[in-house]
Amino acid sequence: MIEDAAHSSTGKITGLMARFGMIRGSRRLHPPYSAPIIAALYPPPLSDFFPAMLFQLDSLKIEALAALESLSDEAALEAFRIDYLGKKGKLTAVSAGMRDVPVDLKKEVGAKLNDVRDAITGGLASRLEALQAAKDAAAVAGIDITLPGRPGQGAGSLHPLTQIRDLAVRTLRRMGFTLADGPEIETEWHCFDALNTPADHPARNESDTFYMPDGKLLRTHTSTVQIRTMESAKALPVRIIAPGAAYRRDEIDATHLSVFNQIEALYVDVDVSLADLKGTLEFFFREVFGPNTVVRFRPHFFPFTEPSFEIDVKLEAKGKEARWIEIAGCGMVDPAVFAEISKKRGDSLFDPDKVTGFAFGMGLDRLAMIMHGISDIRHLIENDVRFLQQF
Ligand code: DAH
Repeated sequence: MIEDAAHSSTGKITGLMARFGMIRGSRRLHPPYSAPIIAALYPPPLSDFFPAMLFQLDSLKIEALAALESLSDEAALEAFRIDYLGKKGKLTAVSAGMRDVPVDLKKEVGAKLNDVRDAITGGLASRLEALQAAKDAAAVAGIDITLPGRPGQGAGSLHPLTQIRDLAVRTLRRMGFTLADGPEIETEWHCFDALNTPADHPARNESDTFYMPDGKLLRTHTSTVQIRTMESAKALPVRIIAPGAAYRRDEIDATHLSVFNQIEALYVDVDVSLADLKGTLEFFFREVFGPNTVVRFRPHFFPFTEPSFEIDVKLEAKGKEARWIEIAGCGMVDPAVFAEISKKRGDSLFDPDKVTGFAFGMGLDRLAMIMHGISDIRHLIENDVRFLQQF
C-alpha cells in the first residue's frame, strides 16, 4: 500500500476526493479494489498544499484549544494569543499558504481558515472571561452579600455656628441690611486709627494682636468692615452687616479661642437715632432668642461709638434664677470716625455734622453657646461627631 506522507488518512482523502469529484470510472483500473485502496494507488491530482493546509489548520485548532485548557493566568493567555494569533504566530504562518491555493478552492480553504481563527479567538475569550469570573468570585469570597446594610451616619447637618450665622444674617437682611465683606489681614489704620482707637489703646498692644512682618495685622474685630464700607460707599444710606472671623492673642480656654466669629452692623444716614438702634437690636434678639426675650442696654465705652452700650439678654432657665448675659456691643458712630473717613475720602458724604449712624457687633460663637447651652467654646472647633450630631 502506497502511503503519501501528506495523505495520512486514506479515508479522509477519499472523502475529499469524492467531494471534489476526483474518482472517475476511467481511473478505476482494478475493479475489485475498494475505494481507499484505489485512492492510495492513484493519488488524485491535487497539489501538495491542499490537504496539507487543511490538516495543518485542523491540527492547529485541536492543539490550540487543548493548550488553552491548561492556561490559568492572564499572562499565559496573552503569551498564547501572541503564539497563535500574533503577527508571527502559528495561525498566521499557516494562513500564508493561502497564496498557493488555486482560485477555485480559495473559498473552501478560506472558510476553514476563518473557522479555525474563530475557534481559537473564541476559546481565548471564554478562557479570559472564566478567569475574570473566578477572580471576581475570589474577591467577594467570605462576604455575605445577603446581610442587611449597616445604618450610616445620616445626612449630617449644618454646624451650629453656621446655623446661628445664617439666622442672624437672615434676620438682619429682612430689616434691610446688606452683606459686606473685608480682608482678615488688615492695616492698623482700618483696624484701629480709623475707628478712633489711639496708638496707646491697650487693644493695639503686641501681646493682644497678631502682627505681620509688614506691619499689617489679623483683624481683631469685624468693625474694620465699617471703615471699608464707608471708604467706598457711593451714596447714603449705608446699611450693612459683616459676619466673619476675628483674631486675638488670647490663651485658649473654655471661653477663648485665638480665632472666633463675629457679626458687625453699621447703619448711616442723615437721621439715624438711638431709638433706631434699640428697636433694631430688640427685634433682632427676640427673633433669635424668642419673643419674650428681655434686652438691657448698659452704658459702656467703645472708642468708635458715643454713646456706647453693652447689651445684656436676660436668660431664664427653668428652676434657675434668671441672669443677665452680656452679648453685644453697640452705640452711635463717633463723629471722630466720620471725620477720619471724610479726610480719607476727600468729600462730604460722611460729613460728621450731617450724618449720624449706629453700629453694633457681637460674637457668633458666644451667641451659639448661649443658645444651645454649650459650656466650652472649644467644642465648636473640635469636629467631634458626638457633639455635632446634636444640632
Ligand atoms: N468691635 C467690638 C468688639 O470686637 C464690638 C463692637 C462694639 C462693635 C460696639 C461695634 C460697636 O460696632 O458699636 O468687641
